Formats: sequence, C-alpha cells, structure tokens
Amino acid sequence: MPSPNPQAMDFLLTRRSRPAKTLTTPAPDRDQLVPILIAAARSPDHGKLEPWRFIVLGRTALERLALAATGRAAALGLDEDQAAKARAAFADSPLCVVVVEVQKDSPKIPPLEQTYSAGAVCLALLNAALASGWGANWLSGWVAHDRAFGEQQLGLAPQERVAGFLHIGTETSAPPDRPRPDLDRITTWMDT
Ligand SMILES: Cc1cc2nc3c(=O)[nH]c(=O)nc-3n(C[C@H](O)[C@H](O)[C@H](O)COP(=O)(O)O)c2cc1C
Repeated sequence: MPSPNPQAMDFLLTRRSRPAKTLTTPAPDRDQLVPILIAAARSPDHGKLEPWRFIVLGRTALERLALAATGRAAALGLDEDQAAKARAAFADSPLCVVVVEVQKDSPKIPPLEQTYSAGAVCLALLNAALASGWGANWLSGWVAHDRAFGEQQLGLAPQERVAGFLHIGTETSAPPDRPRPDLDRITTWMDT
C-alpha cells in the first residue's frame, strides 16, 4: 500500500517560482542555506559521481559579478538590454547559488546523464528554498554560457559549466500562476 505524504504532494502541485526581480533581502544566512544545499545534493546521481558543486554568491561577490558582466557584455559587443539584464540579475539578487555541472570521467555514466543530474539538483535546490519559505528563481542568461565569464569570474574548470543561477530571497509579491502543460498533450499512456 502507498503511504502518502499529502503535504509534500500539495507543495509539488502548487509550487511556483518567484521572479528574481521581485526578490529582496533578507536572504537565507549560512545556517538557513545549509539544509537547502543538503536537500539539493540529495538528488538522483547515477553512479554516485557527484557531477555538480555549489558556489554561494553573497552581496559583495554579486556586486563584483554585476560589474564584470557589464564589462564582458561590452567586450562581446552585446546590446544595452542584454548587458543591463545580466548586470541587474547579479546587482539586484539578495543571494545566488550557482549550481555548477562538473563532468566526471566515467566508463559507465554518459555525460548526458550527468547533465540531467545537475538539472535535478537545480530543481531540488529551487524546491527546497521554496519549501523553506523563501522566494527563489532558476535563471541562466548569456553569462551562464559564456566560457570566459565562467572561468575568470566563477573559477570554472574546463569540464565545468553553469547549470543554473538560483536566486533566493524574500518575496515581495506572489506572481499569478503561469499556464501549465496540458497533460493529455504530453502523455502517452501505454498501459492497456
Ligand atoms: C535551465 C533554465 C534556465 C532558465 N533561465 C531563465 C532566465 O534566464 N530567465 C527567465 O526569465 N526564466 C528562466 N527560466 C525559467 C524560470 O526559472 C522558471 O521556469 C519559470 O519562471 C517558471 O517557474 P515555476 O514553474 O517554478 O513557477 C529558466 C528555466 C530553466 C529550467
């Protein structure tokens, strides 16, 4: 017989990100963040490779990265809007956890499965932050994919890349729900 956890199910059926722009301080302190990171690291991981790690960005680091993003946008010749968006994502964030995908050499586990695991860690971190009462949002943007930015500003190694910037803070407004997928359209039932 299944042993239901209705509270957990209710959370999963109603969970909703809070847009990063609407987050403010206070952000979780270290003691409050640790259980969220532990929950995130408790994610499916084929072969126990741990193909991910965290970088916690507090306000000083975020200000530095905001400046660096502006400089990098100019070097890349990006338009004002792209530069401003990347700058604001760091400058306005109360706290950001970078989930870094770390590809491990494995004769058995394909790289794609390690990527999936890193994505699972991002969602687990998001959900743990939301379940702890914080507002949270998983963002990427061009900075997530720019090699030079990742290596110079975040210290990424060649086998590493950003899986997600997880912004966490206090919500100022709850957004309306977004349209959710039509289950009939995305589900093929092979059960008869
Ligand atoms: C890998 C990934 C990157 C994302 N990057 C962005 C982004 O840069 N900007 C943005 O507005 N939303 C981005 N999103 C979407 C939001 O994180 C989120 O999916 C959306 O706000 C709805 O979230 P919810 O289903 O938790 O309510 C991204 C989602 C994923 C999975």
